[in-house]
Amino acid sequence: MTPFGGNSLQARDVASFIHPYTNMVAHEAQGPLVMTRGEGVFVIDDDGKRYLEAMGGLWCASLGFSERRLAEAAYQQMLKLPFYHTFAHKSTDVSIELAEQLLAMAPVPMSKVFFVNSGSEANDTVVKFVWYYNNALGRPAKKKIISRIKGYHGVTVASASLTGLPNNHRDFDLPIANILHTDCPHWYRFGHPGESEEDFATRMAESLEALIQRERPDTIAAFIAEPVQGAGGVIVPPATYWAKIQPILKKYDILLIADEVICGFGRTGNPWGSTTVGMEPDILSCAKALSAAYAPIGAVMVSERVYQVARDNSGKIGTFGHGYTYSGHPMSCAVALETLKIYRERDTFGHAAAMAPIMQATLRAYLDHPLVGEVRGVGLVAAVELVADKATHQSFDAKLGVGPYLMKCGHQHGIVVRAMGDAIAFCPPLIISEEEIQEMGQRFGLALADTYQWLKDQGHV
Ligand SMILES: Cc1ncc(COP(=O)(O)O)c(C=O)c1O
Repeated sequence: MTPFGGNSLQARDVASFIHPYTNMVAHEAQGPLVMTRGEGVFVIDDDGKRYLEAMGGLWCASLGFSERRLAEAAYQQMLKLPFYHTFAHKSTDVSIELAEQLLAMAPVPMSKVFFVNSGSEANDTVVKFVWYYNNALGRPAKKKIISRIKGYHGVTVASASLTGLPNNHRDFDLPIANILHTDCPHWYRFGHPGESEEDFATRMAESLEALIQRERPDTIAAFIAEPVQGAGGVIVPPATYWAKIQPILKKYDILLIADEVICGFGRTGNPWGSTTVGMEPDILSCAKALSAAYAPIGAVMVSERVYQVARDNSGKIGTFGHGYTYSGHPMSCAVALETLKIYRERDTFGHAAAMAPIMQATLRAYLDHPLVGEVRGVGLVAAVELVADKATHQSFDAKLGVGPYLMKCGHQHGIVVRAMGDAIAFCPPLIISEEEIQEMGQRFGLALADTYQWLKDQGHV
């Protein structure tokens, strides 16, 4: 029996559904918030209540929730060629066109594109590519991949291993072998007292080099990183971080992989996050805003050097034995092509870059609030971190669930944000207007005030 009315959507959900990233016990008591429609930056629930979707769903709905051109692109492709694959020398017109367009817009010269259906599949593909590459080069020991604490790279077995968050490993017997995690470049949280941001960046680089030395450089194959860490808390690295990290990777012949699954396609104020932070990757993974999230598709781009090695090896052993039934799915490719066309025609990235300072300032206005320790972000991605003590940066006891409480207050006030612990994330559709940013700030302010009152009532502040 559920606490929900008879045959309601809530009761049917609880009776039938295992949700991703959800406490199943809590879900049985609480039930789902069921969305049934979308309109611009708003989603509308089964009661007709409107929510400003300040997370673009899951950092992805870049064109909002009602772009008819994408629906039309999907429909027309479904009529023309609903499915064909790309295995064993087969191809489609739309997948070829999309590969060309991605290469033309890549942040650094890239040679070839491999299509996948999600960010996790992209990063699993990257792991296999890196291993294949080093086997091909006759370096069977050079297999370890370094990612970062609080990095997020997905949930499949290899990509979850890359992810540097405890909940993605716990009770799943992860990470697998050959995955290492180095420091998270979050100065506010991990800087030593009195340490400048520049010195902190130097320490991050020294720590990485020490790890490489400890493990032996001839065992380290690659370093994977999001330009701006997303699900780990929206962490923008110090300005000189990549200038210090990249020479170390070059010195030890370690490939750099940019996970652009969130940052790609205008999110950080440039077409790619790599440009924003100064990364020059050998391999790049992307997904989400590639299709404005209207169809599942992702892509891995590889440099000429990486491609040539894989190419020669596939010639030698007979195949590159990897691929998904839906790699380059025509409907997803058609939606992605229309998405890229809309980005160009409407200068969506330019609009996002113009809105960025407004959103960052709107959120930074809350820095004076007694609960707000840090407001961080770049472009149209940001986080507001709630703390128990602003002077010492002391966090609240995680058991209090301050961030999740604020998220629920947000629902009451008609805004969807995401709590990553006590860091509240914002990643609205790139089409958000100035007025909608103000509205987002106001609704967040109401949720913050409720949260403060709740903590006060319990004597926590
Ligand atoms: C940076 C990054 N990489 C990979 C992924 C995994 O993508 P997916 O959920 O499509 O598998 C995500 C998802 O949020 C992400 O943020």
